[in-house]
Amino acid sequence: MSYNILETRNLVPDVNLMKVEAPDIAKVAKAGQFVILRIDESGERIPLTIADFDVDEGSITVIYQVMGKTTKQLTILKKGDTLQDFVGPLGTPSDIRKLGTVVMVGGGVGVAPVYPQARAYREAGNHVISIIGARNEEMLILEDEMAEVSDELYVATDDGSKGHHGFVTDIVKDILDSDQQADRIVIIGPPIMMKVGAGVTAPYGVETLVSLNPIMIDGTGMCGGCRVSVGGETKFACVDGPEFDASGVDFDLMMSRLSLYRPQEKEALESYNKKCGGDCKCH
Ligand SMILES: Cc1cc2nc3c(=O)[nH]c(=O)nc-3n(C[C@H](O)[C@H](O)[C@H](O)COP(=O)(O)OP(=O)(O)OC[C@H]3O[C@@H](n4cnc5c(N)ncnc54)[C@H](O)[C@@H]3O)c2cc1C
Ligand code: FES
Repeated sequence: MSYNILETRNLVPDVNLMKVEAPDIAKVAKAGQFVILRIDESGERIPLTIADFDVDEGSITVIYQVMGKTTKQLTILKKGDTLQDFVGPLGTPSDIRKLGTVVMVGGGVGVAPVYPQARAYREAGNHVISIIGARNEEMLILEDEMAEVSDELYVATDDGSKGHHGFVTDIVKDILDSDQQADRIVIIGPPIMMKVGAGVTAPYGVETLVSLNPIMIDGTGMCGGCRVSVGGETKFACVDGPEFDASGVDFDLMMSRLSLYRPQEKEALESYNKKCGGDCKCH
């Protein structure tokens, strides 16, 4: 079975949106879940979070950052092209319910998975404070969309070109130091940002959730590739997560496992660039 691409759009440099026709997934998808796609028969599987779903249109939207060979190959696909596999929804949905005030924190392409969660928390009756960040204004994604689903929206950029000059975690600390009540904090972004965020919130005792992105292969709990250590126990991020309580996550172990295949990933990209100059679908 192949999956039709309905739309592709460049959002900011090296970050693209892709909408795929997948009515069966759209019907049951929930915030916090992901898909695993394969471009063609010999392609590698890559996991991407469901950034949006539309039951009426029967579509799933993913937003991806160009990192290596497969995400680079994705950039040349256009409306009307197809994907070989598009499997999902995978992972345990986020535990969305009415809690009071929920602080949603997204960094870089991590704003994409934060968006459907922020919308769902708002729909569940929560007061949603969102904090989104990027290296600079040019790299900021989904600002209008996040504004629509948030009661308050703060922006941070590393270089100060928009909003707070600094990290999203600085704003988290300001909120925790203020009179404002926070009942849950959700942080999604690069592993280092989630690690720092977990460190910032820990002294305040506010429940903090992170969405982990270890290497995944089958996405069904069978291969063990995505194992992470949470609260001293081994968990499989694809089926036990990807969302976990930040306080117990061994981020250093996860980051070291993420870099395990760096030489192979580098070689795959170099060989792809050499063979096709990066502008065809071959391997
Ligand atoms: C549950 C989950 C959800 C994700 N959601 C998103 C998303 O919404 N948007 C987005 O841009 N990225 C997301 N990622 C990361 C994305 O899967 C990787 O960027 C992608 O697989 C890179 O593939 P590549 O061939 O282009 O790069 P490669 O050169 O193969 O790898 C570049 C880097 O990407 C990571 N990576 C590579 N393969 C995998 C893999 N199979 N699983 C996880 N990480 C990998 C590694 O850190 C690696 O160093 C998610 C990862 C997980 C586990
Ligand atoms: S990806 Fe294989 S066990 Fe999670």
